This record gives sequence, C-alpha cells and structure tokens, in this order.
Amino acid sequence: MNLIKKITRRSFIKRSILTILSLELVYVFFNLLKKSNDRLKPDNLFEAGKLDLFEKNRVYPFSSRRFYLSRLEDGGFLAISTKCTHLGCTVQFSNNEGKFKCPCHASAFNKYGEVLAAPATRALDIYPITIQNDTILVDTEKPVKRTKYESSQITYA
Ligand code: FES
Repeated sequence: MNLIKKITRRSFIKRSILTILSLELVYVFFNLLKKSNDRLKPDNLFEAGKLDLFEKNRVYPFSSRRFYLSRLEDGGFLAISTKCTHLGCTVQFSNNEGKFKCPCHASAFNKYGEVLAAPATRALDIYPITIQNDTILVDTEKPVKRTKYESSQITYA
C-alpha cells in the first residue's frame, strides 16, 4: 500500500516511457549490429571453413553447394563448379587419378578444371573466393565461365 502511494501517476508514466525508450534503443542497437554482420558476410557467400582445415595439393567436395575447393601446391585456392561444361552433368573428383571425371560422356578435367578429355571443350566454371579473417568464403551465386585455366584465377590468403 505504501509503495503504491509513493509512485505517483506522473512518475509511473515517466518510468513507463523511459522503459519503452530503453527497449527501443536495445532493439535498434541489435538491428544495427545484425546489419553490419550481414554486410560482412552476405547470404550468397558460403563459408567453406578456416584456411588451416585444407591441406595443400588436395581437392575437397562441397556437394550441397555444387563445387569443389581445390587447394593447390602453393597454398592458393580455386572453387571449381561440379557442372560439366559439356552438357551439365555432375563431375566427380577421383583422388586416385587426381582428376575430375564426368559420368555422362567421359570428359575429364585436371585439378585446375582444365579439359583433359573431350567432348567438353572448355574448363569447368569457378566461383569467386574471398578470404576474411582466415576464413574461406565462396560466392556460389556467381559462377565464372572460362575457356581455360589461368594463374590469375587463384585466390591466396
Ligand atoms: S555432360 Fe559431361 S561429358 Fe557430357
């Protein structure tokens, strides 16, 4: 009863307004934080993992994202599409043979995605790679068509 008497109607309204404003500020702050994180890593960038997870001279499948991450002998990276450039079948990487093979018409590609055997006539597409804070991000929305492999396509940390 005493407590109710101490809190006047005016002070109650003031406290209510302050509480609502505080909650609003917290909401705005977390939204700004979320937006700044979104700017750092847009939805189209797939996080493949930290650099040290990938050994040199190995190819890692990311089947759900339809690419292979090829870490080359000098430490550079290529994100190579699984889509065969002949008619679009899914290529498989053979660790034993060190090459991509297409099950449909037997095209083959090396670890850079270059054509080793027809009927495909151009290299496998690649995806742009960004490395932030030692993390590999692959833009799986933007396949890059190429006729051949060039060293400028490699991404380094
Ligand atoms: S679709 Fe790959 S060789 Fe024809």
